[in-house]
Amino acid sequence: MNIHGTPTRTIRPLPGRGGVEIIDQTLLPHLLAFRILHTLEDVAEAIAIMQVRGAPLIGATAAYGVALALAEDASESRLEYACGRLLATRPTAVNLRWALERMHDCLAPLPATQRQEAAWAEAAALCDGDVMLNQSIGRHGMELIRWRHELSPRTVNIMTHCNAGWLATVDWGTALAPVYAAFDTGIPVHVWVSETRPRNQGAALTAWELAQHGVPHTVVADNAAGHLMQHGQVDLVIVGADRAASNGDVANKVGTYLKALAAHDNGVPFYVAVPGPTIDWRLADGSGIPIEERPASEVTHIQGEAEAGNVMSVRLTPVQSVAANPAFDVTPARLITGLITERGVCPATRQGLTNLHSEAGASDSRTA
Ligand code: MRU
Repeated sequence: MNIHGTPTRTIRPLPGRGGVEIIDQTLLPHLLAFRILHTLEDVAEAIAIMQVRGAPLIGATAAYGVALALAEDASESRLEYACGRLLATRPTAVNLRWALERMHDCLAPLPATQRQEAAWAEAAALCDGDVMLNQSIGRHGMELIRWRHELSPRTVNIMTHCNAGWLATVDWGTALAPVYAAFDTGIPVHVWVSETRPRNQGAALTAWELAQHGVPHTVVADNAAGHLMQHGQVDLVIVGADRAASNGDVANKVGTYLKALAAHDNGVPFYVAVPGPTIDWRLADGSGIPIEERPASEVTHIQGEAEAGNVMSVRLTPVQSVAANPAFDVTPARLITGLITERGVCPATRQGLTNLHSEAGASDSRTA
């Protein structure tokens, strides 16, 4: 994707392997600032405080975290420690476990002298793989948008939630990849961006990256979604996923379930973009997905730009009020019209997923 017209990935290793450059997403859309991660602890912190976020990018950053961790000590115990440390940063996105298992499986059998070199190569391959998966999701998802456009040749109104775009991945995004593909081929699209309280990834990140690409969009309060669907202003919903169970239940940013309910009630197609590394084949259904509970301060406070360049946080709630912050919810497969994967669109069922991922369905997601 382009930033100010320059093709840019969300993460890149520095020449000489002295570090990894990321965009500090906590400052967007007000400031575009980059941060260099030098150590395992830098990476763990960046993931935990959400300077990098979005399931695929969390996995990609963790892969580089392993490479950085092995800089001075490439022993097996260091490898185990690094994987454990990074796995503990965020619990819901299964891409984190997937990436760490991939790194571990690649590096553990090697002699210590070869591990560092191999770790950088494997992290880079994982990132390139993410870009390819997302481009493929884009092509398959675009056909759904094209089909809707051919049905009635006017602007296609797509609703999304949170940020499952370029910023949530290495490049292109998952839920937004079909939007970019459609826009780039000239299909008229407009995106309803729900703000996504409490951290506002929709209002801050999705809106920013759509604007960078020139895609028409409108930011709405989360609570407006049902109203818009009821009044025929949404043609389809496309959201991302942090973990899909093998039966097609999907965990995504809290509020996704409510959108799925409203879509179901109003006959609006509800699609979830799910790349292979987001499928947890070890879970029979969504009830086993761990839901991250984040700090209450994300609910009691809100961040914004007070004046140019001055990003600050203000309190919203009475000091004496308790707040809770479950960061994800699970949408049952029965509410999902289809899953957009890199191998095509399938029903949100075990059969649908295994038809596309026959090799992985039999074991687990490491081969996806
Ligand atoms: O808490 P976040 O910002 O990491 O949550 C992100 C989401 O819920 C995305 O929709 C999901 O990770 C899919 S990203 C392609």
